[in-house]
Amino acid sequence: MKKYVVLVCVMLVFISFYACTHKPQGAIDGVAVVKVNNTNNTDTTTDVIDTSVCFQRDVLPIFIAYCAKSGCHNAASNEKGYNLTTYNTIIAKGLVKGNSSASKLYTECTSGKMPKAPTPKLDSTQLSLISRWINKGAPNDTDCPVNCDTTKYTYAAAIVPILNNYCYGCHATAVAAGSGGGIILDTYSALLIQAQNGKLLGDLQHATGYNQMPLGGAQLSECKITQVSKWIQAGAQNN
Ligand code: HEC
Repeated sequence: MKKYVVLVCVMLVFISFYACTHKPQGAIDGVAVVKVNNTNNTDTTTDVIDTSVCFQRDVLPIFIAYCAKSGCHNAASNEKGYNLTTYNTIIAKGLVKGNSSASKLYTECTSGKMPKAPTPKLDSTQLSLISRWINKGAPNDTDCPVNCDTTKYTYAAAIVPILNNYCYGCHATAVAAGSGGGIILDTYSALLIQAQNGKLLGDLQHATGYNQMPLGGAQLSECKITQVSKWIQAGAQNN
């Protein structure tokens, strides 16, 4: 019975994933290929279609932003023995290499148990990345190709996907008071305040006198920081 419930949940995730994907380009391990970091972009002519998933680029930032929080699964809190801050600690528990549906780390997320409210649940793209990574053997890919385009820097196509993967786990409206110092980044109007006061870019650049964001994670790639910088320079529009 329990197995059946898990199976149905996994299927629902896949179905909703398919429903949200406009143009599946192919399949890996039974899962449609997704456009990493470019999910809202409808211009298919210049898109980079990523047929692989890369741990440091695609998977670790999600664990850092949604799970490795104080009181949850950072090194100090280590809730239920899960420390989801580094490759070695992530593969240490609840992960069966090559089999995402046997990996508690993944099934707790597809069943909706994790991340615990008010932290937002992972979306279908994020779940798919984690599943594909586990299914390909959960390797510690470090030298990830840059999959990012500095000529694209609109709010919808570039900024929201970055914030979704790196920041909303602490800065979504529902969770900001508890995890993000009260700073909300998942509405345009609240983000605009941080864009205009210089803190969004200063924190991302790890500039002197600023905080270093994402908290507890590696600095974003130069390309992603450039996208944010260009968006701000062009007026931080809701475009
Ligand atoms: C693990 C939780 C966490 C993640 C992930 C995170 N932040 Fe933060 N952020 C915080 C906390 C906590 C504060 C409050 C810090 C303080 O007041 O000292 C904060 C403060 C901020 C501020 C307010 C200005 C400041 O420096 O005080 C900005 C802007 C910010 N974060 C941007 C981001 C961005 C952009 C990302 C994603 C790239 C991000 N944060 C990811 C926890 C997080």
